[in-house]
Amino acid sequence: MSGSLPVAVVISGRGSNMEAIVRAARVPGSGYQVVSVIADRENAGGLERAAALGVQTRVVPLKQFADRASFDTALAAAIDASGAKLVALAGFMRILSVEFVQRFEGRLLNIHPSLLPKYKGLDTHARALTAGDSHHGASVHFVTAELDGGPVVMQGRFRLLPGDTVEAVSARVHALEHRIYPHVCSLIATGRVETCGASVYFDGEPLAAPLIEETDAAA
Ligand code: GRF
Repeated sequence: MSGSLPVAVVISGRGSNMEAIVRAARVPGSGYQVVSVIADRENAGGLERAAALGVQTRVVPLKQFADRASFDTALAAAIDASGAKLVALAGFMRILSVEFVQRFEGRLLNIHPSLLPKYKGLDTHARALTAGDSHHGASVHFVTAELDGGPVVMQGRFRLLPGDTVEAVSARVHALEHRIYPHVCSLIATGRVETCGASVYFDGEPLAAPLIEETDAAA
């Protein structure tokens, strides 16, 4: 795997996106490898998944730090120690400090379960259903100091159906997430996507709108 971009995946929960990123990295031509999975909780389900996949894991236990700044410093040190050049937040449930975000600017990604800029924050599926939206999905974006506000690289989008529930929608969002997040990691690793300021560049040209992966709701 020499020459491939080292990636750290940072999680708080079950880590299904982490697993998709790890598995896709092993497909020839992905351009990246996952060098570490880092969790902020010892009981994050994704840690076992990562270990089963043979990926090095690390816990930076939030509870053991007196304040947010010292946690962020320890997390940054764990990322640096892994050798990662790209960081993928995948179900990481903490808000990171401006200092942390600036330190990893341009190489820090997040996945959010909505079609940003719609529904920043929590309960995105319920909010989309309540609003009667025609479409819903997920967004992979570069992280900036504004919560869920950084430039979006790619969105997975599908049509909402009459009678859709939060559970049904959540399953479809996850399935899409598992495609678009590894895809974005590869696009960055192969040099096709980069960011500068509030813009994303795709093959050297600024993106006017996010790349879209669309599925039929029945798919
Ligand atoms: C995903 O839906 C992601 O959009 C959100 O948190 C969830 C993480 O799921 N940020 P998993 O832990 O990857 O299964």
